[in-house]
Amino acid sequence: MGEVAPRRCAEGTWLRPGRQGGPSGHPPPDGSAVPDSAYWMRAAARGRGAATAGVRTLSAWAFGVGVHRLYLNHSTMNEASCRVAQKAGFALEGTRRSAQLHADWWHDMHLHALISPSP
Ligand SMILES: CC(C)(COP(=O)(O)OP(=O)(O)OC[C@H]1O[C@@H](n2cnc3c(N)ncnc32)[C@H](O)[C@@H]1OP(=O)(O)O)[C@@H](O)C(=O)NCCC(=O)NCCS
Repeated sequence: MGEVAPRRCAEGTWLRPGRQGGPSGHPPPDGSAVPDSAYWMRAAARGRGAATAGVRTLSAWAFGVGVHRLYLNHSTMNEASCRVAQKAGFALEGTRRSAQLHADWWHDMHLHALISPSP
């Protein structure tokens, strides 16, 4: 897996944590100032818990620097991504219908979020 250490997190921007292979960042789709998180593993590295570990590490770092809420989106067709989100503690909040254009057509998207444990 690539480097997990986040590089930037600020109001109005998004998490951009490291090199290809670990979690990566996307602009918030709704224009909000809440950091987004996403992940992508090389095929040879999948199935070892690395994505889940990376998301957990990224989340802990983000909360440690004051982020209150993290979210992620994935296609409802992407069961592995859904599983990673669940294992990393991101609760499923709902389905955004036909919300993202993929190579084949518009996909329904699951919205997951994780709230900082700090008061
Ligand atoms: C999604 C992805 C990041 C997961 O990476 P990973 O390192 O394999 O993830 P983990 O090993 O931490 O966990 C994978 C979980 O998904 C499950 N899983 C894998 N393929 C699955 C499938 N086709 N259907 C259902 N569950 C699946 C695994 O069993 C595992 O769950 P478990 O621990 O309960 O058994 C990786 O598959 C990937 O890079 N896919 C392509 C890019 C992508 O889709 N990114 C997400 C975009 S939102």
